[in-house]
Amino acid sequence: MRISRFGRKIKQRSGISQLMVDLGEAFGGDMLMLGGGNPAHIPQVEAVFRRQMNELLSKDGVFERVIGDYDPTQGNSEFVEAVCGLLRAECGWDVKPGNIALTTGSQSAFFILFNIFGGAYEDGTSKKILLPIAPEYIGYSDVGFAEGLFAANRPDIEHIDEHTFKYHIDFDRLNVGEDIGAICVSRPTNPTANVLTDAELAKLNTIAMAKGIPLIIDNAYGPPFPNIIFTEARPVWNENTIVCMSLSKFGLPATRTGIVIACEEVIAMVSEMNAVMSLGTASIGAAIATELVRSGEIIRLSREVIRPYYHAKAKLAVDRLCELLEGVEFHIHKAEGAFFLWLWLPGLPITDVELYRRLKKRGVIVVPGHYFFPGLDEDWRHKHECIRISYAQDDRRVRAGLEVIADEIKLTYGAD
Ligand SMILES: Cc1ncc(COP(=O)(O)O)c(C=O)c1O
Repeated sequence: MRISRFGRKIKQRSGISQLMVDLGEAFGGDMLMLGGGNPAHIPQVEAVFRRQMNELLSKDGVFERVIGDYDPTQGNSEFVEAVCGLLRAECGWDVKPGNIALTTGSQSAFFILFNIFGGAYEDGTSKKILLPIAPEYIGYSDVGFAEGLFAANRPDIEHIDEHTFKYHIDFDRLNVGEDIGAICVSRPTNPTANVLTDAELAKLNTIAMAKGIPLIIDNAYGPPFPNIIFTEARPVWNENTIVCMSLSKFGLPATRTGIVIACEEVIAMVSEMNAVMSLGTASIGAAIATELVRSGEIIRLSREVIRPYYHAKAKLAVDRLCELLEGVEFHIHKAEGAFFLWLWLPGLPITDVELYRRLKKRGVIVVPGHYFFPGLDEDWRHKHECIRISYAQDDRRVRAGLEVIADEIKLTYGAD
């Protein structure tokens, strides 16, 4: 079959598609799935979703409208207005409904935004998306039409104690030249659980403003919802910032509801792309969540149920892994948010991919670390010494998975 360059790019198996295949296989069988980004099923939160769904079903004509009408290209107006009110009240942001658009999950927002700001410009130049700190989210890797869309920066590494470390942006190395079209960070970061400090974010904001390029903040796990963050961090937005949020980690990944907050010019382009790619945005997530947003229940659930739930799991997973890896040289990134452990094994005698394969054979799925460095092409051993472990599954399965991971790591060091 003869296909375009774009077709070829899609045809090559990308990091994220390999991950999705494994995810599918793992859910089908007995695998211990410590690999994917699926959020936990939290009964208290699910009961609220069920209640909201029953509300939709019980009111005359409401359910029929939700499934029978296209929503506008900017997304469901009632939901957009409710989100606008919540962001004004909770975050103090000076936003209007015209600053908000929905997308088919926030993943598709990145596809839209990276192709708006990265790639070929009319003046003949070509611009990249700068990831000021790598490791970064695997899902960014393949969204660009243009080749080599990303530039990325190695982090500074702070050792907090024997087994805990934290990445920081290395501003001395950060080169924001004319070839950069936008800066993007996830906060909290998938895969590392890092939360960039307010000072780091303020500095990025100043740089972006000075260069006249947008700062994109991927807030899939952050405040005000789902608020899976175990440290203090102020949510920021201004006309030069594009904040991307989502209902996925709140517990609604299947509804594919992304939320973009940006200046009106960007929102208009996002809406246009929604029209081109899918006519309208998905309605069901907005329909389930509108009342939760309007009443503020989404904030209460995030603060009182979701954050403590993941925080307790993070502590359990870190403590257990530290116990199990006794005697091995290892470092875990400080768990500041999201639901992943980022495990660094300095001097690992095999690659991250080989460790992933051995674990898969033993029924445990993790994600090899090197996928999380889009745009960082330089040879850096660290890239192959890390794995990402999700602890979102139930504690029994997480514990069982961690035991296998630790055992395999010990065997690796002993045998090679
Ligand atoms: C950091 C980050 N951003 C964005 C997404 C995309 O989420 P969704 O498209 O479900 O909103 C994910 C999903 O795992 C993520 O981890």
